This record gives sequence, structure tokens and C-alpha cells, in this order.
Amino acid sequence: MDSKKIREKYIKFFVGKAHKQIAPARLVPENDPTTLFTSSGMQPLVPYLLGQEHPEGKRLVNSQPCFRAEDIDEVGDNRHTTFFEMLGNWSLGDYFKKEQLPWIWEFLTKELGLPKEKLYVSVLEGDKESYEIWKSLRVKEDHIFFYGVDKNWWSRSGPPEKMPEGEIGGPDSEVFYDFGGEDCHPNCACGRFLEIGNSVFIQYQKTDGKLKELPQKNVDFGGGLERLIAAVNNNPDVFQTDLYIPIIRNIEQITNKKYDGNKSEMQVIADHMKAATSLIIDGIMPSNKLQGYVLRRLLRRAAVKMRQLGGDLIKLSKLADQNEEVIKEEMERFSKTLDKGLKEIEKIEKIDGKAAFDLYQTFGFPYEVTEELFREKGQEINKEQFKTEFEKHQQLSRTASSGMFKGGLADHSEVVIKYHTATHLLHQALRDVLGSQVFQKGSNITAERLRFDFSYERKMTDSEIKQVEELVNQKIKDDLKVEHMIVSLDEAKQMHAIGLFDEKYAEKVSIYGIGPQSKGRYYSLEFCGGPHVEHTGVIGQIEITKEEAVSFGIRRIYAKIAL
Ligand code: SER
Repeated sequence: MDSKKIREKYIKFFVGKAHKQIAPARLVPENDPTTLFTSSGMQPLVPYLLGQEHPEGKRLVNSQPCFRAEDIDEVGDNRHTTFFEMLGNWSLGDYFKKEQLPWIWEFLTKELGLPKEKLYVSVLEGDKESYEIWKSLRVKEDHIFFYGVDKNWWSRSGPPEKMPEGEIGGPDSEVFYDFGGEDCHPNCACGRFLEIGNSVFIQYQKTDGKLKELPQKNVDFGGGLERLIAAVNNNPDVFQTDLYIPIIRNIEQITNKKYDGNKSEMQVIADHMKAATSLIIDGIMPSNKLQGYVLRRLLRRAAVKMRQLGGDLIKLSKLADQNEEVIKEEMERFSKTLDKGLKEIEKIEKIDGKAAFDLYQTFGFPYEVTEELFREKGQEINKEQFKTEFEKHQQLSRTASSGMFKGGLADHSEVVIKYHTATHLLHQALRDVLGSQVFQKGSNITAERLRFDFSYERKMTDSEIKQVEELVNQKIKDDLKVEHMIVSLDEAKQMHAIGLFDEKYAEKVSIYGIGPQSKGRYYSLEFCGGPHVEHTGVIGQIEITKEEAVSFGIRRIYAKIAL
């Protein structure tokens, strides 16, 4: 059974249980200032787990490509990757534990044919209900393990005490595959057990520092496709599944070395190049900011590993299915820097955090690259000291550093929601002033400003900018009502809803109309998942601060809400 077959079986299994298949989100989330990457299948669904109605109903299934920058240091063994595909099914306040656990068991044992005695499960201490369900499925007592919240609680930020205000989460129950080996327990990192699926019962939200029950009880299941194949193959090495074999073979060819004996280096190259290619396909370019910087770190770390294997850095671009040029250019730039940096390193006696920071400043060596080069020399660098230096210099923006070092999570704050509604008004106002050839090309909102990209062939004149600004401010003053509707795709098209829309499986869609409404006409009507303010009056006046070119035929506007 290969990855394609397992993916198909999973989707079919849950569609057979009345789930609707939804399209995966982009790896780089649109309109979400709180995070740099989509790192789990539930992330794009947060508003619906909180209670908003999903256009496709209460049971959803998909396969979501995910990227976890925070796992970059873990890569280099047979199981960790920064990029992976997560099979997910969700109940939005519909079914709960007594359906979810038997279904997952049925999928793993019947559909994938995994032997029952090789499956172990874990349950949160005190979660009797899950325990009884596993027992009723004839999971043996010695195959059920209890752990505390450090292992059997899931939220995007970890156990309850780490959850920021507004974050959602709950107890979970994991399934592990036993590859055999020393006497051990499922949550040990020795390699005997591999977690292949996690059912999270999302039923709490952090509110005023405490856990509060959500209005609905949700299920959020995630299973790593790479790991499921490893279990089906009964081989713990995810890099020997059909998803990685071709890239490993290519690396062997380029370096003229064998995977056996060079596993760790090749695992890093394979993972990082796969992740980098996916980010580039999603529109990210190597840079010194945000996602672009993470991409640069991946490419540079892969380059250092390539150098350790004696391979040609430039040939890394051959590992990309597309966008070879982007990688080639970055490698050409980096190979010069790498040589210069290496000479410099020779001169430094002891690499402390400060020296590591200087190498970053002068040669653009990401922290992991310096660390990698000194592991070769047997030196340990103090990461905390590097971070302190880094923060002192504040080279990158506050968001960038929190994104890079903490995977930063904020909430859907009031001001961000105001900016989001203002973006809809801006989109329509641009079409009113410049013409209906204007279309959204991208959007990015933070608590400080909105940024909106749109198609237009030339620079806007000062008077056009002023007109657009006045029009948006008029619509805010008019205190228009904002209405959320879930309609069929045909209806939405008949109503002339505009905006980015790429949900290829959708029957029902979510749209937002901003009044006045007369005979079904709104001032603005867009495909959008929200959230938005209820009346435009609360936004406050906006000010367009900048208009510039992004690329040929695409312009960018920055605007602020004036205080
Ligand atoms: N969100 C959970 C996880 O990432 C289950 O999908 O493990």
C-alpha cells in the first residue's frame, strides 16, 4: 500500500461516515497574523471549532500539508520531519469520543490491516470514558497507557498552563505502532513506538486564565501520512516510504554516497528540500524576514549537510520538482558566503553565542548552520546567548523573531477583526474608483496595519488614493451592517460575490455582505471565512499610508486605522 492508496482509503472511509471532504489550506496562511505556517489540519478550522457554522456542515475530512519550523532541530532521525501531510477528520460539535475512537480503530485495523497486538493507545489520566471505549474495542489492558497533561493534552501551545488567552484545546488519545525492541513504553523516544494518530477532544478555551467549556464539544483527529505508511510497511524509517525514496535516491546520486552510513545528513537534506520546495510553490522567496527567512534557513542547512557529504551545493536545485532557479540562485549566493564564513570561523578560537550572532550578522549564517559547523569541531554554542544578542539588536521585526523562535501565537484580537472588515471595504472601493479589473491578490493583517495586494497595471495617482480613502471612510461612517451568509456556490456566483476562492470541493460557501442591501445587493460581497465586525461604524477612520508596486501588474496598499 502506498501513500496515495492510504490517503484515498482514509478520505473514503470518513466520507462513508457522512463527512465532507474540504480542500487543504495553503502552507502560508492568508489573513492570519498569528502564525507563519499552517502546522496542523485544525488550524484553518479554529473559527468553526469555536462555534461558527461551517459551510460544509459538522463533519469534515481532508489531507493537509503541514510545516513545523519549530521541529527543525529534531530532523535527522528516521521519524522527524518539518514538512508532513496530516490526514484529519473533525466533528464540529457533532459526534464525540464514542464514535471517534471506534472509527479510528476500524480504519487502522480493518482498512489498513494493522495487527491489533502491535497497536498501543494512550489516554489522559482520569479520562475513564476513553479508557472504557478502548476496552470495549478489546484493546488489552497492557496496551493502554495513562499519561498526564504533558503527553495527553493537545493545544497549539501545549498543556493548559501554556495556553494563551483565547486558545482552544483538550484531552487527547493517541495510537502508537510497536516496531518491537527493548521493554519500553509508548511515549519514550527510543524508537520502538511511533505515534501514528491523535484524537483530540477540543472542548475547552482559555478564558480569564482558566479553562472554560466551549459551547460545543469537538473532535480533531490528525494522523501523519508518512508515519502511517511506515507502520503499514512495518519499517520505522519514514524516509524509506514512497514519499521519500525518490529524493533519497537523487541525493545518493548527487553525492555518490549510500543512504546507509549517511542517513542523518540525507534525512535532513530530504526533509528540508521537500519543505523548501513546497514553500516556494506557495509563493515564498528566500529573504531575511518571516517565512522567507525560515525558507533560507532550510536551504542553508541542507547546503551545509550537502557540503558534509562532499556534494555540490548548486546541485541541490536538482532535488526540487519546480522552481529550480530560485534554489540555484540562493545556493550560488550562499556558497560564496559559506566559503568566506568558513575562513572566518577558522580564526575564531571559541564560538560563543556572541560570535554565532556576529556570523549571522556578517555572513547570514542561520544559528543552526553555525551550530552544525561546530558540531563537526566538537564545540557547543550557547543558544540562549545567541538569542539574547539577537534580541538586543532587533534586526528583524518583533513578529519575525517571535515567529522564528516561538512559533508565535496571538489571538484574533478586536483590532485585527476591524482591519479585516476594512480590507473588504478597501477592495470594493478600489474597484469603484479604478474599475472592476481590480482583484485581490493577497492580504496580510497585523494589529498595526493592513496590507492589501491587488491587480492593477499602474501606480495610483494621489487623487485616486484620496478618493479610495474617502470612500472607505464614508462606508465606515454610514455604519453599515455586516452580514454572514452560507449559500450554495451557484447562489454566491449569482449574487456576484468576489474575492479569493479556491475551495475545489465546496458545495456550500461562506460569504460576507456589507450593506445596505437592496434586492440582494450589498456594497461589498466577498467569499470569506471571517471573522468580521457587526457594523462598520466601530472600525474608526482609516488612512492609506503607502501605495507601491509588488511585481508587474500587482500593486500593494498599506493602511492604518487612525486613532
Ligand atoms: N491537532 C492535533 C495534532 O496536531 C490532531 O490533529 O496532533
